[in-house]
Amino acid sequence: MSIIFHENSRVFHLSNNSISYILRVMENAQLENIYYGKRLHDAEGLERHHEMIQRSHSAVALPEPSLLSMNFATQEYPVYGTGDYRSPACTIRQENGSRIMNFRFASWRVEKGKPGLDGLPSLYCESNEEAETLVIVLQDEPTQIQLHLFYTIFKDYPAIARHVEFHHHGEQTAYIEKALSACLEFKDMDFELVQLSGAWARERYIHVRKLEIGHQGVQSLAGTCSSAEQNPFIALRRPGANESLGDVYGFSLIYSGNFSADVEVSPFDMTRVVMGINPEYFTWKLNPGESFTTPEILLVYSACGMNGMSQTYHQLYRTRLVRGIWRDTPRPILLNNWEATFFDFTEEKILAMAECAKDLGVELFVLDDGWFGSRNSDYEALGDWYCNMAKLPSGIQGLSEKIEAMGLKFGLWIEPEMVNENSDLYRMHPDWVIHVPERFRSHSRHQFVLDFSRKEVVDYIGDLIVKILEASKISYIKWDMNRYMTEPYSIALASDQQGEMMHRYILGVYSLYERFIRQFPNILFESCASGGARFDPGMLHYAPQAWCSDDTDAWERSKIQYGTSLAYPISSMGSHVSIVPNQQIFRITPFSTRAKIATFGTFGYELDIQCLTDREKEQVRQQICFMKKYRRLIQLDSDFYRIRSPFEHNEMEEIVVAKDKKTALALFVQKTNRVNGSWLRFHLAGLNPDLHYQITCQVGDKTKEFTAYGDELMYAGIVVDRQDLNANGGDYASLLYEIIAIEQ
Ligand code: GLA
Repeated sequence: MSIIFHENSRVFHLSNNSISYILRVMENAQLENIYYGKRLHDAEGLERHHEMIQRSHSAVALPEPSLLSMNFATQEYPVYGTGDYRSPACTIRQENGSRIMNFRFASWRVEKGKPGLDGLPSLYCESNEEAETLVIVLQDEPTQIQLHLFYTIFKDYPAIARHVEFHHHGEQTAYIEKALSACLEFKDMDFELVQLSGAWARERYIHVRKLEIGHQGVQSLAGTCSSAEQNPFIALRRPGANESLGDVYGFSLIYSGNFSADVEVSPFDMTRVVMGINPEYFTWKLNPGESFTTPEILLVYSACGMNGMSQTYHQLYRTRLVRGIWRDTPRPILLNNWEATFFDFTEEKILAMAECAKDLGVELFVLDDGWFGSRNSDYEALGDWYCNMAKLPSGIQGLSEKIEAMGLKFGLWIEPEMVNENSDLYRMHPDWVIHVPERFRSHSRHQFVLDFSRKEVVDYIGDLIVKILEASKISYIKWDMNRYMTEPYSIALASDQQGEMMHRYILGVYSLYERFIRQFPNILFESCASGGARFDPGMLHYAPQAWCSDDTDAWERSKIQYGTSLAYPISSMGSHVSIVPNQQIFRITPFSTRAKIATFGTFGYELDIQCLTDREKEQVRQQICFMKKYRRLIQLDSDFYRIRSPFEHNEMEEIVVAKDKKTALALFVQKTNRVNGSWLRFHLAGLNPDLHYQITCQVGDKTKEFTAYGDELMYAGIVVDRQDLNANGGDYASLLYEIIAIEQ
């Protein structure tokens, strides 16, 4: 890993064994991106990649006879008004109403390791040898506003982390109207745009489109979260690139609020990607002496297709974004009571469920919504974070102690950011909700959003929850968030600061998470938002796992988890087995397939475990045994490969392979069964071609076994016998292969 500065050409070259990122200071002292991709030798003369020709309508950024035009330069952090007519990365309104800025190169420095971001989630290093950071300082002379552009290159990963700091050294108040985390440009448009889009119960479906001239992209204006509709991730891939081959560029924003990712192709076929906090409804007042920090973005380059990109995100997010003891600890197998009881439970019922769960091997019992205030439906009591003693006479303290005494851990559901109109909190503080005075307050799920941009509100809710956490034996928290923002306005902010509200809200959420994890470092947090509406890298810095979706149907989940795996590690995917017909899609799928899909995640159950038949209970015992045996491999010690996409095929195929390639688990799931169908071959990935493996697979009540070399398994494939699929249930049948290297 190195960061080299060529004094004469003013070219910076960041590189490691797999990538180069090259930028330079142009003749007008602004920054140009020269190259990003597969590693290049360092050499003089890289500035030759900047071409200048006379074009009509091109404004020139320097006195004649210069031909330097910003409209044709691939820039690092462009502003508008320079003759560049594409979307800028930053806009600042000044006291005189002008938005014209000229950020000129002022200085640079290299720091060992990687700095953190104040109040925002970010990647970290465990030693200074893991990364180096280039900081380039640009200055606008008239306003004395500086931009500090941060570029961290990691020694072992084809990845660059970027963010920007705004520092105001001048004298007049300025308003930042756009402060994106990065701009990246390519000289051509020969790409497909890959995005993760969806809705409640079908989050993070993979969508692909060819780039066209003009704007394309994704955004969230949900306010409270990154959203179920769009995820703060996109990839540009070369046509023909697939899961294992070809060039792919990933862009992932480490942020949980409103974001935008805009891909603009100019009529000259240049592609510009800008990504960061959504500039819609955003402004930030920057007083003299103040600074502002954008969220971090992680750029990943892969020369080996989508899997190469995903594996970099998996590794970095799992080991250098997630923190605390749960980073390296296999996740407990849990039972959650939500789909079993909804709001209708008693202490007796909960204890009976827990007892039965314990008997079958479950390790953690999670009490979901309905334990607090007068909460018996979703119409009331959010905000009243004290136990409903009528329902739970021993309180959370007593209940958690009883469950611990059984030998189980205890977990609790909370939704700290919300309040129902019918609650003590709302009656006490109706002005704590996000609203515009004298205007209608929109309901969603019968609740309002608390104004988490206000410290006193965050502190009040935090105090109530800390009281419960201190008094009870709580090992796990599911932090839910069940509505988007409307009428965004804070009565605590001045009129010229209203554009800050939604970003301040997310900072408030992060600060409360930070308070909890500092005070209770052993608690495992799972984030949730009406299922998977807040599945983003920002959350992973606080909560190492996230509830993927309220949709637990096996086939739907295979799609959701397949899509999620583009940017997020298996260990982050909250995945449970639930009953059939499925409560969301009313589909019937085999019990074994539901369990196998959940195995490729954190694993748990969300059903009334007491109502299972004896045969099903026996299956649960075996499923839990299997998960306990393999969860370290699946969640922590392996590489994950997608093989066949359920979005394009009747089958879904994937595999986890141990780092030493001696153990692997390969999953084959089919959608509908085919009568008299074609041959099926399952081509595995990631194995050692020279290792001889023992392969074991459960077919009905029998175990099938054979041995084969890694090359046969990958290149000739496993013969999938349709009779085996029939034996495992026909429609939605699955086969899970345990693959263990045979000692030679
Ligand atoms: C959301 C979550 C569910 C459950 C309910 C409780 O919908 O996604 O898992 O916790 O809230 O109200």
